[in-house]
Amino acid sequence: MLNCLLANKETGLDPLYLLTPKLLEAWLSQVSNQTADLVRINLFCGKLGEVLIVPISNGKKLTLAGIGKNPKAANFAALPAKLGQRSYFLAFAPQALDRDDLALAWLKGCYRFEMFQEKKTKLAKLQIIGANHDLALLKAGAVALARDLINTPANTLGTEAFEQAIVSLGQDFGAKVSSIVGEDLLKQNYPMIHAVGRAADQEPRLVHLVWGNDTDPAISLVGKGVIFDTGGLNIKTGSYMKLMKKDMGGAANALATAQMIMQAKLPVFLNCFIPIVDNAISANAYRPSDVLPSRMGASIEIDNTDAEGRLILADALTRAIEDQPELLIDFATLTGAARVALGPELAPYYTKSDSWAQKLEFAARAESDPIWRMPLWGGYDALLDSDIADICHTASSSMAGSITAALFLQRFVADTPWIHFDIYGWSSKARPGHPVGGDAQGPLTVFAMLQKEYAQ
Ligand code: BES
Ligand code: MN
Ligand code: ZN
Repeated sequence: MLNCLLANKETGLDPLYLLTPKLLEAWLSQVSNQTADLVRINLFCGKLGEVLIVPISNGKKLTLAGIGKNPKAANFAALPAKLGQRSYFLAFAPQALDRDDLALAWLKGCYRFEMFQEKKTKLAKLQIIGANHDLALLKAGAVALARDLINTPANTLGTEAFEQAIVSLGQDFGAKVSSIVGEDLLKQNYPMIHAVGRAADQEPRLVHLVWGNDTDPAISLVGKGVIFDTGGLNIKTGSYMKLMKKDMGGAANALATAQMIMQAKLPVFLNCFIPIVDNAISANAYRPSDVLPSRMGASIEIDNTDAEGRLILADALTRAIEDQPELLIDFATLTGAARVALGPELAPYYTKSDSWAQKLEFAARAESDPIWRMPLWGGYDALLDSDIADICHTASSSMAGSITAALFLQRFVADTPWIHFDIYGWSSKARPGHPVGGDAQGPLTVFAMLQKEYAQ
């Protein structure tokens, strides 16, 4: 994917013209009559999705792509698959289309998950003079990391392999990675990560990645790493379970964010906590009605073993705030209710901090990574009361499920400035730049915000 954006020094490339219907008219008036006739005969008129290759003198050709009346950089992502396995340079595009956005859209459109397929998609390569290549590659690399991790099924990316993936990410950027595994989770007081993951074949773990200089502002990330969510004893039915290899999508997106921070060398002290479990079923599985201790100290009544994500996140969040970061961000495929509220494209987020929310919203405007703020509505907090323990992990009402899950997490972050994303992490319908499969939601916006806040 990343090799689909050609360096500026490459020569001998075919010219590619991005044309709106209006710009096409202007363009036709400048080319030879023969070329103009060919374009007209082929009924090319600059509509979005049209592609025309026009032969000109001495064996050369011009490639025209229609981008419609109101062109958007994101739509550009459909092109790499349409232009054959050839190498182009961007000869013309309207000034209004930002070159950096075009480069990122192109790269997103070059993503394919073909780990298990012999036949690879043939994609075009493109040179965009004037684009910030490093930045496009940094962002596209992070998107690809998130997608690859999510798309890899749980029999390949089990809890052990997922830990290894984080170890190798750490190695790439000189970060320190350590893990607490299996029974050690109990010894080191992570009872809920252990309880949720103990029924699985591969042991549960908490992986900690540390990068940067501890005198810089401390930023901590947490991501839900459920490598597969059967629902536990409250087992999911077939159609709901089918997609649940993506239940480590929060972790994948936290790691994508971490990768951009490290690659850009942002002057922050980064701590990333990834609780990894397989929510499986066995004789020793945790049960509905069990009461679990938590790292924070409160006892937690288990209502439904399918609400596993918030439990492992709670212990990880408790650990994260022990470092007193100046900002804590978690990503999680936490609730189906979040999808009911906002659908698959918009990433809902929660924060008590109006100032961080404002910074996030500002950053989101320039990224094609949309987010939407949701309320931590205090009126629903009492729904988490338990008759038998300090807290029940699910609400006594099924309404506002994404909000009550966020309210549960909020109980574990004390006064730490905190942003929580309840993401889907999946594209179920292909759109330009978003093939069906795992997807990044939030990292580009979060990274843009952190860069504005901390880059020197
Ligand atoms: N991983 C699921 C949430 C999910 C489901 C995200 C489908 C995206 C798509 C989570 O662990 C879960 O099962 N949540 C339950 C919570 C309920 C039992 C309170 C849910 O949302 O139904
Ligand atoms: Mn679940
Ligand atoms: Zn889950």
